[in-house]
Amino acid sequence: MNEKLPFDMDAIAKQAVDEIEHIKDEEDLEKWRIKYFGRKGIFATLTSNLSEIEQCLRPVAGMKINNVKKQLTTLYEEKKQSLISRMQVEKGKSVFNLTLPGLSSECANLHPITLVSREIVRIFQGLGFGVHTGPEIETEFYNFEALNTPADHPARDMWDTFYLDGQKKFLLRTHTSPVQIRVLQRLTVPLRIIAIGKTFRRDAFDASHSPVFHQVEGLMVGYDINFSNLKAVLTFFLKELFGSSVNVRFLPSYFPFTEPSAEISISCVICNGKGCQTCGNTGWLEILGAGMVHPEVFRKAGLRDENLTGFAFGAGIDRIAMIKYRIDDIRLFFLNDMRFLRQFR
Ligand code: DAH
Repeated sequence: MNEKLPFDMDAIAKQAVDEIEHIKDEEDLEKWRIKYFGRKGIFATLTSNLSEIEQCLRPVAGMKINNVKKQLTTLYEEKKQSLISRMQVEKGKSVFNLTLPGLSSECANLHPITLVSREIVRIFQGLGFGVHTGPEIETEFYNFEALNTPADHPARDMWDTFYLDGQKKFLLRTHTSPVQIRVLQRLTVPLRIIAIGKTFRRDAFDASHSPVFHQVEGLMVGYDINFSNLKAVLTFFLKELFGSSVNVRFLPSYFPFTEPSAEISISCVICNGKGCQTCGNTGWLEILGAGMVHPEVFRKAGLRDENLTGFAFGAGIDRIAMIKYRIDDIRLFFLNDMRFLRQFR
């Protein structure tokens, strides 16, 4: 059907596009406009000749003409704008309309998790601790095995894990504790570090659980590190973070990678230890897990010196932020609602 038309619309379009691309001033652009769109221009001629085309071909021919016309009109407008702008720049005139109101951009605040993380870093840096992060994708070795949690160990039930492969070799770290091993392998003792970052568990997304959350890990290793050091450092940390009036409580606990292990609570900051909904009427809020590094952890990290001792601890940053800022729903940290985020400074 195409061949039967008495004109080649594609060739005309191609030529018009070719010409307009080479145009450099408004005068030539006007000549181009007259050539194609003028009263006696190409399109006018084509349209008036339509009546001479075979009746059945007319709709197709009309449509073709219109399509190309539309396309060339857009090109013409764009070219005109660009020539005008270029001319204004050349004449030293601004291409910007300075009277238009500006676009206002919302000024961001730091996220509450960032604020708490920075505060934790500040406290530990003041005590000489280095700051590490470690990878979020871990191997089964660093996340479990090296932390004295072999495959058949019941403590593996404590962490519902996102595995990344069928062999259960790669996973999203369920805690920041694997950074302990990485640091022990890389740094020389004595050492003291914290590690902060994202951690992942197959948890529900509800008011008190999120599959992504944040932890801070701590590790201090040397030749004379004992449980008193652990108590002193963590008591200092918690009083700096929550205020010097909080009481700190140490209770025996269990973790595969520490022996002995402790769970550490502060007196409830909402009710001052009297008992309320937040502390489940106990007057205490559990904040940290900690303990003396298990000798097996040193061995797994390749340290054979029997005289090494150390303490480690771990805490949930989201939980600390919730207590500090009185937030009752962990999901708020992840929803990016500006009304929520604007409140933190
Ligand atoms: N990794 C533990 C958890 O996620 C927290 C923890 C407990 C870390 C005791 C430690 C520790 O370093 O000593 O529940």
